[in-house]
Amino acid sequence: MTAVAVAGGGLVGLAVAWRAALRGLSVTVADDAPGAGASAAAAGMLAPVTEAGYREEALLGLGAASLARWPAFAAELEAASGLPVGLRTAGTLVVGFDEDDVRELDALHAFQRGLGLAAQRLSPRETRGREPALTPRVRGGLLVAGDHSVDGRAVHAALLAACTAAGVVVVRERVAEVVVDGGRAAGLRLASGETVAAGATVLALGAHSGDLPGVPPLPVRPVKGQVLRLAGARGLLEGTVRALVRGRHVYLVPYGDGGLVVGATVEDRGFDARVTAGGVHDLLHDAIEVVPEVEELELAETLARWRPGTPDNAPLLGPSSLPGLVLATGHHRNGVLLTPVTAEATAELLVTGTLPDVAAPFTADRFRRD
Ligand code: GLY
Repeated sequence: MTAVAVAGGGLVGLAVAWRAALRGLSVTVADDAPGAGASAAAAGMLAPVTEAGYREEALLGLGAASLARWPAFAAELEAASGLPVGLRTAGTLVVGFDEDDVRELDALHAFQRGLGLAAQRLSPRETRGREPALTPRVRGGLLVAGDHSVDGRAVHAALLAACTAAGVVVVRERVAEVVVDGGRAAGLRLASGETVAAGATVLALGAHSGDLPGVPPLPVRPVKGQVLRLAGARGLLEGTVRALVRGRHVYLVPYGDGGLVVGATVEDRGFDARVTAGGVHDLLHDAIEVVPEVEELELAETLARWRPGTPDNAPLLGPSSLPGLVLATGHHRNGVLLTPVTAEATAELLVTGTLPDVAAPFTADRFRRD
C-alpha cells in the first residue's frame, strides 16, 4: 500500500507528489496522459496582480504567497531535475488602445493601488520604451513589475523528472474511480481494474475533478480556453504583454527560444474540445493589433483545454467531505501560479494532518458556510 495516491499528473498533481515524497511519504500518481490537460495549454503566467478580478482579494493573497515561493521552487526543481523551467522576471505590461481601454486601465490602476499593490501607470511613449515591438497606436500602459512567467511545459517535464528522482511511482493509466471503503477514501481504481490502495487520496484532476465516481459533489466546472503557440518570436517581447483591444482581453507570453503563447478565450461550453475559426481569428487579430510583427510568426499550434472553474474562481484545497480524500483542484486561471503553495500546503496536510493557515480559507466547505 502506498501512503498517498494522487489522481492526476498535471502540474498540481505532480508538484503535490514531489513535495510529499520529499517529506518522506510513498506516493503513486495515476494519469493516462500526464501533462496533456490544462497544463499543456497554460501560458505560465505568475501574475496574481494582473489576473486579479474585483472582489477576489482572498485569491490575490494566495497568489501573492505562491508567487513569493516561485523563485526557490524553480531553483529547487531545476536542481532536482537537471532541467530548466524558464522563469522570466521581466514583469507584465498591460496596454490599451482606445478611450474606453484607457479608462479601464485607470480603473485597474486605482483598484490595484487601493489594495496597496505595486503598479505604475505609463504614458504611450514609456509603454513603447519598455516593449518597442508594440504598435505605435498604443494609448497607455500599466506596468506590474512583479508579475512574472514560467514555461509551463518545461515545469511539467522537470516535475516528472524530479518525481522519478524522489521515488514517486507514475502509473500511466486512466483513473476510473476513488475507492470508498467504510465511508473513507481508500485509494484509486484504474481503468484496467487494478487498485492503488492508499492511506490518503489526492484529487488533482483539474476540470474533471467533479466527474470522478466516488468523489462527493464538488463545485468544479470546465471553463474552455483556446490558446495559440507561435514560433520565431526570439527577442520580440521582454515580458508578458496583456492588452485590452477595444474591450477584448488578449495576452502574449514569451517563452523558451522564440516561443510565444497567445491566449485565451474564456468560454462556458462544457467539455467542448473544438478549436474554432472564430476563436483563432479573434486571438490572432488582437495579437497582431498589439504587436504587428506577430503577423510574420509561424502558427505552430492551436489548442483548447478546460480550466477547472469554481464559483469564486479560487481553488479547492485541503480535506473534503469524504474522509481520506484531499482536494488540490479548482485552480481556474491560476494553476501554474498556485502550484508551489498548493504543493506545500497539501504535503503539510498529508504529513501532519493540519492544513496551513495560508490554504485554510480555500477549503470546499466555504460554499456551505453561510
Ligand atoms: N491564466 C490565463 C488563462 O487562464 O487564460
